[in-house]
Amino acid sequence: MQQVEQLPIEGIDYVELYVGNAKQAAFFYQNAFGFQPVAYSGPETGVKDKVSYLLQQSDIRLLLTTGLVPDHPASRFVQTHGDGVADIAMRVQNVDWLYKEAVKRGAKGIMEPRVLKDEHGALKGAAISAYGDTVHTFIERSQYKGTFAPHFKAIESKMKAEPVGLRRVDHVVANVEEGKMDYWVEWYGRVFGFTQLVSFDDRDISTEYSALKSKVMRNVSGTVKFPINEPARGKKKSQIQEYLEFFKGAGVQHLAISTDDLVSTVTKLQSRGVEFLLTPDSYYDELPKRMKDLPEKLETLRQLRILVDKDDKGSMLQIFTKPLQDRPTLFFELIQRKGSESFGKGNFKALFQAIELEQEKRGNL
Ligand code: FE2
Repeated sequence: MQQVEQLPIEGIDYVELYVGNAKQAAFFYQNAFGFQPVAYSGPETGVKDKVSYLLQQSDIRLLLTTGLVPDHPASRFVQTHGDGVADIAMRVQNVDWLYKEAVKRGAKGIMEPRVLKDEHGALKGAAISAYGDTVHTFIERSQYKGTFAPHFKAIESKMKAEPVGLRRVDHVVANVEEGKMDYWVEWYGRVFGFTQLVSFDDRDISTEYSALKSKVMRNVSGTVKFPINEPARGKKKSQIQEYLEFFKGAGVQHLAISTDDLVSTVTKLQSRGVEFLLTPDSYYDELPKRMKDLPEKLETLRQLRILVDKDDKGSMLQIFTKPLQDRPTLFFELIQRKGSESFGKGNFKALFQAIELEQEKRGNL
């Protein structure tokens, strides 16, 4: 791959989900995951064809959007894909230059640089398309002092969200069609100048029944990390294939969100009814053989079904929620890094066995 200069991306500005009912989704992400609704946009703020709720916890901003008319892009997206991630928006310093440069490097532009203004200043944005119907919006905030964006008003909520310690987006994972992983690896390398962090092959992360291939693309500062998965052949259907069939194409598989104390975060989430993948007991029986110096007590890990892994830089703890909507598509990963830069390679097999138990229940294995 020819190495090109990296586009100056500061980090992820927000992640937008298109959903069937943003009002109810906001209630779910507030009360289950502790995100505070902070801004609203809709007919009351001069936007006729959609409503959006901005939810925040520490550095993570989720934008939940529903179309109010059948031909709004959010309505069409939801009809095809169900609820899911439509936009991984990135904060940048110079939208005009960056958009032009991305298009010059082969990205498909879908929104030319445009300025939105209100009494708080001017916000500049532009967008390119990525895998499936996913887009990347570039946002330039240097001339804007408002809460989020023009046509948004602050939400005066009587109900305060109870945060669970979620800090920032650690990585965002794409599922793409079989044979397309290397295409998108090359694309992020060529368009963004991202580099590949680490690669798994299907021997690393396969079980008897289902497999995947995965490569991680990221920027130099590590503020943006995009693992890209594709299904690999196993005896039965790959979980990536099941995603592609339910989502009707490529899309975001999971958002990994970091916390400083995963045990506390998971304990709170479980008490609110958030469901996690049930890692089999055998994982915890084997764990002391795989890892000495566990970062938490074995019994705590077993009780909460937390996974642990390590690399030469340290350890990490992680756990995966069940899908966040009825289709077995988008889910969250919660991750606590204690030095490790790993994505849980050592856990993939254990994780897949757990996912397959769920897949079997749906008759899709
Ligand atoms: Fe992950």
